[in-house]
Amino acid sequence: MAFCKQKVALLLLCLSVLYNICIGGRSFVEFEGGKTEDKEGRYDENAGYFCSWSRKYHGTRARINVWGIQNVSPSSESAVFIAVMNENGPGHMMLAGFHVYPRLYSGNTDLRLFTAWTDRTTGHNGKACYSPDCKGFVLSHEHGAPVPGGTVEPLSTFDGEDHFITLSIKKDEKTQDWSLYRHDGNAVLIGWWPKSLFNNTFDMATRVIWQGGVLYPKNETSPPMGSSHAACEGEHKAAYISHIKVFDQYGKTMEPYKVQGVADKKDCFTIDEFKYSREHRNHFYYGGPAGCIN
Ligand SMILES: *[C@@H]1O[C@H](CO)[C@@H](O)[C@H](O)[C@H]1NC(C)=O
Ligand SMILES: *[C@@H]1O[C@H](CO)[C@@H](O)[C@H](O)[C@H]1NC(C)=O
Repeated sequence: MAFCKQKVALLLLCLSVLYNICIGGRSFVEFEGGKTEDKEGRYDENAGYFCSWSRKYHGTRARINVWGIQNVSPSSESAVFIAVMNENGPGHMMLAGFHVYPRLYSGNTDLRLFTAWTDRTTGHNGKACYSPDCKGFVLSHEHGAPVPGGTVEPLSTFDGEDHFITLSIKKDEKTQDWSLYRHDGNAVLIGWWPKSLFNNTFDMATRVIWQGGVLYPKNETSPPMGSSHAACEGEHKAAYISHIKVFDQYGKTMEPYKVQGVADKKDCFTIDEFKYSREHRNHFYYGGPAGCIN
């Protein structure tokens, strides 16, 4: 496990001085501590950022750095995803990203593309209903479109190669359905969530989300998140989400404004500052090693 002392110290200072609210540069950081559990009583821990300032989003796009994730037990999951959520009414959510979740794939621990959707009444934290087992997400069958459940290659290596996949979830202004695209070159439509899934109540996202997340049973320790290295290790070591954009209520791309941080268990799963650089645009690093105990 690696500690990056300076940043941890800074973070603690920030936290103690500003009561869980830390305003630095362009970002507004708020930590939502605490344990959450899914329906099976597994721990659910997330680290990342979200934006809910305008409460009128038509989606988001981000570049997701991909890593192979070791040590994920059959009933655990380690994921990274982007999501859109509507907090009016039942709290619907659509997610897309990459995960290792052996239980869904006959015990296999490859990194795979996944999509999911929920209303809060059917599953906890949007993770109950996964493609390809879950009905609802419609495949485009477009030539060259990746398919949810498919494995991801090549992967990044520590201090070595950097690989990523850019995804967007965007409301289709004509059909009003919510589409999932892969970018990186020509955009290819992976599929969509029909608006009827949500009884037409999902007209806007009130929140857009970029996160790493783990699920693990109480009798086990946590799987790793991201590259299994702490956020403050940075480039080529920690996992990142970069080139983060939001779509406004007219479907135009915008820079995210007033983002807020989430670190459910920050002694295990860290995020660094949400920041802008020419190379990575809006981005942050996140993650942590396996073996966290609750
Ligand atoms: C949509 O409405 C039907 C009928 O009222 C209901 O059974 C279903 O649970 C609703 N679905 C969602 C996602 O809210
Ligand atoms: C922990 O509990 C789950 C059921 O919740 C079970 O499937 C798993 O085998 C248990 N793990 C260990 C290490 O005993």
